[in-house]
Amino acid sequence: MWRNTHQGYGLISIALHWLVALTVAGLFALGLWMVELGYYDPWYRKGPDLHRSIGILLFLVMGFRLIWRWSNPHPVSAGKPLEIKLASIVHVLLYILLFSLMISGYLISTADGRAIDVFNLFSIPALISGFDNQEDIAGLVHQIIAYGLIALVVLHALAALKHHFIDRDRTLKRMLNPSS
Ligand code: HEM
Ligand code: HEM
Repeated sequence: MWRNTHQGYGLISIALHWLVALTVAGLFALGLWMVELGYYDPWYRKGPDLHRSIGILLFLVMGFRLIWRWSNPHPVSAGKPLEIKLASIVHVLLYILLFSLMISGYLISTADGRAIDVFNLFSIPALISGFDNQEDIAGLVHQIIAYGLIALVVLHALAALKHHFIDRDRTLKRMLNPSS
């Protein structure tokens, strides 16, 4: 029930998958919205504070997700060998893009040497700062990776829907129901 088996995902993997998916969608929308705000908007500072705090918490969740993935059996995927290979490449790429996005976000936020305050609960120190144009370069990288990640997520979601509606296999159901 809690752990994965070779037949399906356990509750923890499923909860982590959908928690991360919702958070990433929210951070993407918040990121696009907040960079357009004017200086006198009440959200001018609150928006990025929220974005950074949630982003750091997501990093912790993703760290746990990786540990969980490596300490659990991995369900065998459905489909032709080429499809299975492609799916696992996309999954690895999703992890790589997510971590690169969080690291580039950290580098934008700490470029001026300031720590990141996470919901006034704790702060993450600036370990790498002061490079020439660090804020601009990390900002551009962050923006490009964010768009790339969302494009890949759309492809990933379409593939899941294809499994469900065209192949009519259990791929999507397995990511929704721990017992099926
Ligand atoms: C930001 C959004 C998303 C991210 C980052 C993401 C990431 C991932 C990753 C990394 C895996 C591999 C699981 C693992 O072994 O760790 C996975 C599996 C899966 N995802 Fe997503 N996902 C997202 C959104 C979605 C959406 C919107 C759907 C459905 C419409 C979906 C359906 C699935 C399914 C069905 C699997 C299982 C695939 C299999 O068993 O081979 N995902 N996802
Ligand atoms: C999956 C996680 C994340 C997503 C999807 C995401 C998405 C975005 C997007 C779409 C933008 C707007 C880019 C633009 O149009 O210029 C943005 C900006 C920004 N993000 Fe993130 N972000 C994530 C994580 C983080 C993290 C972890 C941090 C910091 C710890 C961070 C810090 C920032 C900052 C400071 C900006 C403003 C950049 C600027 O002013 O140009 N982000 N993010």
